[in-house]
Amino acid sequence: QEAGCLSIIVLGASGDLAKKKTFPALFHIFQQGFLQENDVHIFGYARTKLSDDDLRERIRGYLGKVVSTENAEVLSKFLQLIKYVSGSYDSEEGFQLLDMQVSEHETSKNSQPGTSRRLFYLALPPSVYPSVCKMIRRHCMNQSDLGGWTRIVVEKPFGKDLESAEDLSAQLGKLFDEKQLYRIDHYLGKELVQNLLVLRFANRFFMPLWNRDNIDNIQIVFREDFGTEGRGGYFDEYGIIRDIIQNHLLQVLCLVAMEKPVSLKPEHIRDEKVKVLQSVLPIKPEEVVLGQYEGYKDDPTVSDSSNTPTFATAVLRIHNERWEGVPFILKAGKALNSRKAEIRVQFKDVPGDIFKSKKQGRNEFVIRLQPSEAMYMKLTVKKPGLQMSTIQSELDLSYGLRYQDVKIPEAYERLILDTIRGDQQHFVRRDELRVAWEIFTPLLHSIDDGQLKPISYEPGSRGPAEADELLAKAGYVQTHGY
Ligand code: BG6
Repeated sequence: QEAGCLSIIVLGASGDLAKKKTFPALFHIFQQGFLQENDVHIFGYARTKLSDDDLRERIRGYLGKVVSTENAEVLSKFLQLIKYVSGSYDSEEGFQLLDMQVSEHETSKNSQPGTSRRLFYLALPPSVYPSVCKMIRRHCMNQSDLGGWTRIVVEKPFGKDLESAEDLSAQLGKLFDEKQLYRIDHYLGKELVQNLLVLRFANRFFMPLWNRDNIDNIQIVFREDFGTEGRGGYFDEYGIIRDIIQNHLLQVLCLVAMEKPVSLKPEHIRDEKVKVLQSVLPIKPEEVVLGQYEGYKDDPTVSDSSNTPTFATAVLRIHNERWEGVPFILKAGKALNSRKAEIRVQFKDVPGDIFKSKKQGRNEFVIRLQPSEAMYMKLTVKKPGLQMSTIQSELDLSYGLRYQDVKIPEAYERLILDTIRGDQQHFVRRDELRVAWEIFTPLLHSIDDGQLKPISYEPGSRGPAEADELLAKAGYVQTHGY
């Protein structure tokens, strides 16, 4: 059976996420030929009253700035694919109207009943997920018995703690089965995050070294050099642990630490991720440093007595044969001195060192997720020249230099394509989400209760000095380049 036509329905079409991420990603995959003009329609749905042209102009306004003039024609073609339906998120009529429009499109494309594909992208706050999903279930489901399907894309925050996340999962789980739900964590769509499996399991170099016998500590770091600009209200309710660490950094940890999956099948990979998460021990409060940048509370949408961390370092310990005793240091902060996301794998000292090279630093393998994707190994070499002394140097694979002709896709482009293809590998499974919340909920509750308080730090700094002390205590040794 030939697949029928494709309808992509963006709910929350007039919002920020749709404007900045969803529509640009759709445009880029269209531009690269992955969405066939005569096959696909894009529907925007939101409460704001707009005409088709109003929405198109809004999208053009945003995309026009990033699209080069030679692509202006492609942009116009893309915009012609977009229609708009207005309605509220719990309105029976609104969703009936949406279904009518989508069905009209399907009929006009002669899609055989049961073969059409409907992708619902919820660019919305999670508080409305249950009502929107109920409406989709009630009014907009495709009869998916002949190869057609209905898929739902949702994005964090999935709850605020274990209980609320489980509640949300249960509500969505009653309406759709796991195969239909695509929980986005956009870090899983990043090139160098996707590279982790290949790196670990296709290279003889790493396999024998990737364990507690050789690795001393691993850092997974996210830094941003700007504050919560314009998002203070949202951020203050969630904080850096819920915004970055419990999801993005923990997903990276899974891929760094998990065992080799039986195969590349999404379920095999996700099984291994769940296992490693299940082996994480409770986080000790003394292995956590929280920070809040000075001026954070000047934002009128942030409470004056806010205890919300904008910075956190937490040591996670994995209780299994491979990782016992190796600290995984997860660190994230806003308003710091640089914008960077990287994984730093620091190896142990060389036993019986005859070069006294230790003082120059340890072997370290760095995977820079962004900006300027790169992988480099810090290693000790003989200092070139007549003398016999050693220096730290680097074996460097910088993507910008090595793969000059390749445009690295945006995470959202890849993930939306995956949803169309039905590949759930890079999406978070329900049980994975539950264990991720289990790990962080006790810590989050002690912050919410005010038992743990953030230390103030200067915007543009490295964050609280206590975090560096924690890092050193966990075993990290600062290495110095040449
Ligand atoms: C989002 C967070 O999930 O990720 C933001 O809500 C953060 O606070 C963003 O800025 C970072 O994404 P990226 O891809 O720029 O690292």
